[in-house]
Amino acid sequence: MADTPIAPNLAAGDAKKRVHIKSYGCQMNAHDAERMADVLAKEGYETTENGDEADLVILNTCHIREKASEKVYSELGRQRVIKEARAKEGKQTLIAVAGCVAQAEGEEIIRRQSAVDIVVGPQSYHNLPELLEKAGTTAGGSLSTRAIDTEFPEADKFGFLPPPQKKRLLARGPSAFLTVQEGCDKFCSFCVVPFTRGAEISRPVSAVLDEAKAMVEAGVREIMLLGQNVNAYHGVAEGGQSASLADLFARLSEIKGLERLRYATSHPRDMQDDLIVAHRDLSKLMPYLHLPVQSGSDAVLRSMNRKHDRAFYFDIIARVRAVRPDIAITSDFIVGAPGESERDFEDTMDLVRKVGFAAAYSFKYSPRPGTKSAEGPDDVPEDAKNERLYALQALILAQQTAFNAQAVGKTFPVLFEKPGRFAGQVQGKSPWLQAVHINVGQQANVGEDAAKGLIGQLANVTVTELASNSLHAVLADSGEEARKTGGQAA
Ligand code: 5AD
Ligand code: SF4
Repeated sequence: MADTPIAPNLAAGDAKKRVHIKSYGCQMNAHDAERMADVLAKEGYETTENGDEADLVILNTCHIREKASEKVYSELGRQRVIKEARAKEGKQTLIAVAGCVAQAEGEEIIRRQSAVDIVVGPQSYHNLPELLEKAGTTAGGSLSTRAIDTEFPEADKFGFLPPPQKKRLLARGPSAFLTVQEGCDKFCSFCVVPFTRGAEISRPVSAVLDEAKAMVEAGVREIMLLGQNVNAYHGVAEGGQSASLADLFARLSEIKGLERLRYATSHPRDMQDDLIVAHRDLSKLMPYLHLPVQSGSDAVLRSMNRKHDRAFYFDIIARVRAVRPDIAITSDFIVGAPGESERDFEDTMDLVRKVGFAAAYSFKYSPRPGTKSAEGPDDVPEDAKNERLYALQALILAQQTAFNAQAVGKTFPVLFEKPGRFAGQVQGKSPWLQAVHINVGQQANVGEDAAKGLIGQLANVTVTELASNSLHAVLADSGEEARKTGGQAA
């Protein structure tokens, strides 16, 4: 198949250039998309939601499960058609594959889809300008002239990335992500992350504080600290000593104007006492813990190399609930892992019943190339995987509904983030990460302007009704926040 000619150089200084970034997978990827946009903004690229008008399309891919990574190739086929159509109009388009599929499959991507110009792994986003230069100036497009960078550099990549621009921070709204830790050394036998994201590294405390302060100045009120193993965080503090995630939360709590702190994703083995106690002592730390357990069977946990058993998990949950009884606990589960018997699966159902989750993600096991599990057979029949997934998801949904139903009639603060999906709605999050809507038209004490003014504000609401995926509420107090922002309050 003939290659589409590769675009000539799109160096800084050219007329308006547009980049469309399509992100798949985890929150870390969503945040990386922001970071790529920051790097590219310096090169004169504006982001666009419209793929058809983009000079550069980046697919920010996920490799965690087979389904996720196969999506990339079908999307690349679609992008190729757009690229060719644009070429007929004399417009050039560069296609880049970033994220974990780029890291894991490297040159294979270019072999499978010749329209791809750049392959860049998550450790190399700071090299995007160079890669663009290379891909843009090298006409022809044989494999060796494509730009590929999937190194795991020794140096801390965080240091290379520019601080986000104020304008870009503003666009993120009142709740934003901040990466504090990357990579994983745990090597769970089913998981590609240690291969795609590399060894565990933590950002220094001062770098995190600086970025958090810049975010707050731009209007951010809630920060979610991100890391593949965020509770393994051990950044260098100013005095040279090591700081834990709890230490970092204590420092972040001192920032005026920063109202809420969250974190994801955690590993049970790294759930240290100081972090548990922080859920009691730091009022800004929200009552929410995402703690993947994957299975409730000790035999499966052992073969998954999780390095803990179910008793260890129950113990953490009990200690967290002792200091913060209302905490929302969420988790991830895999069904049909190699060797999982009906009895093992029953142990998972039993664990779920005993813990009582506010929500959870569950997946069918899929073997990932390069992992320990993939060396052995994927021996649970597809039918059994489907049945187990169905049963587990039904149980989790029932628990989620029960958890959300407890909120009806309660009053608590909501951080309003954006207009809702329907006219007259404003949407925010409860302390337990539930989506909450208020309907302006139906409420006496909130006018249209006040509703808009609520965005970025914390205000008390009383929940009136449980909807399928959210809570409906009315403002609870005299509309204090609304009044401050120019709205009429009852
Ligand atoms: N198969 C199925 N699910 C997986 N996960 C990770 N690797 C696999 C795999 N090979 C799930 C785990 C993890 C979540 C992000 O994805 O539950 O916590
Ligand atoms: Fe993957 Fe296990 Fe590391 Fe989580 S802790 S990223 S599941 S290897």
